[in-house]
Amino acid sequence: MKPTHRTIIEPFKIKVTEPLQIRTRTERERVLRAAGYNLFLVPSSQVTFDFLTDSGTTAMSAAQWSAMMVADESYAGSRSFEKFEKVVQDLTGYSYVIPTHQGRAAERLLFSLLVKKGTAIPSNNHFDTTRANIEQLGGEAVDLVIPEGRDPARVHPFKGNIDLDRLEKFCTENRERIPVGMMTITNNTGGGQPVSLENLRGAAKIFHRHGIPFILDACRFAENSYFIKERESGQQDRSVRDIAREIFSIADGCLMSAKKDGLVNIGGFIALKDNKWLDHLRSFLILTEGFPTYGGLAARDLEALAVGLEEVLHEDYLSYRIAVSRYMAEGLNKLGIPTVQPAGGHAVYIDAKSFLPHIPQEQFPGQVLVTELYLAEGIRSCEIGSSMFGKYVDGKFQPAAMELVRLAFPRKVYTQSHFDYILEGMEAMAKAKESLKGLRLTFDPPFLRHFTARFAPIAD
Ligand code: F0G
Repeated sequence: MKPTHRTIIEPFKIKVTEPLQIRTRTERERVLRAAGYNLFLVPSSQVTFDFLTDSGTTAMSAAQWSAMMVADESYAGSRSFEKFEKVVQDLTGYSYVIPTHQGRAAERLLFSLLVKKGTAIPSNNHFDTTRANIEQLGGEAVDLVIPEGRDPARVHPFKGNIDLDRLEKFCTENRERIPVGMMTITNNTGGGQPVSLENLRGAAKIFHRHGIPFILDACRFAENSYFIKERESGQQDRSVRDIAREIFSIADGCLMSAKKDGLVNIGGFIALKDNKWLDHLRSFLILTEGFPTYGGLAARDLEALAVGLEEVLHEDYLSYRIAVSRYMAEGLNKLGIPTVQPAGGHAVYIDAKSFLPHIPQEQFPGQVLVTELYLAEGIRSCEIGSSMFGKYVDGKFQPAAMELVRLAFPRKVYTQSHFDYILEGMEAMAKAKESLKGLRLTFDPPFLRHFTARFAPIAD
């Protein structure tokens, strides 16, 4: 049947609101100067639309808030843990569930057991914290995403897929070095791009043939499942929950930052099919996170998460969720602002190198765009380009491969009129883009530059 409406609406009513902080351009200029042109150093009270991350920024539902009130804060064996554990077991089919305070805590726990000097862990793309946790222990985080996944302009339905030929070769040549294989769903580093069921099955087959356990980084599993329903042949008539369950059944376990598709502000977990790592993980958990029935969280967080993991699979929610980034990408493209194609699940990535070709990479075109989006509209976005990855080698600047600006959308926080308003402002910015000038570094910290670096505009 042909749908009667074109508009995909927010599938919720709003019960609690928070005022938007609206400032003038002059006020923002002052704030930006004081923050050294680094949006990480701008207080959120000065930000109107905060698109820095979709992580931990969800608006929770009435059902989640009410579940928090009945939480059982017992140190050991809490009722809230039992509820949370059952929801995760039903969703994933994994028997063993270990709560952690967020995703990177789950990573550190698992890798402290599996990674040592010389270890290699293949994936489509490792997220920054996953990579850092592996490298910190002397291991190597190996990215084997398909070539289409590295090309911002290329359209492909599953740009997060792993290159199965390269994976097979890598596993054959490095078998003894690989304690575990991974896949990130959706692939955040590659633009929030999904992985197909077929590709997950192919990867699992390779890992298992080599006797390598397969662990998912599953923090956007629901968005990935929805993309599969939309795009993968033969999947249209299945429920998203059913697809999600199949995804989990293909792997041997998962690491989860629940701050994304758990629809909560804090939380994470490890879930595993078998118990061979369990004793170590629980002992380490007690050492650093807390007792195995709360793992660094309050029981009320576990309650909210138990509800969030159910609500995230509602298909009216997911169709609206995926429509947000698609709508924004299409709106930007119509204004001549290029984005990574197709739009990802949780974010839109603007290609600042193509948008601002008059600004050389050593003058940080991505960061220039980040600052202009703030001045023009009070948007906080995140540069993923030479500010984040550029290096000085023998005094010479080596730029990043891409100059992207990520607008990551918090779940259920902003409405359609916010997005329309933003696009209206972007029209004027796009027309005046030739007037934008480059930036130079005035403070370059020794590591993780983007968090604390300071910049100044390059004078004429
Ligand atoms: N894995 C992926 C794919 C992620 O995107 C993140 C976080 C993590 C692991 C780590 O989880 O933050 O709970 O410790 N991504 C956030 C972002 C920070 O903005 O993309 P965490």
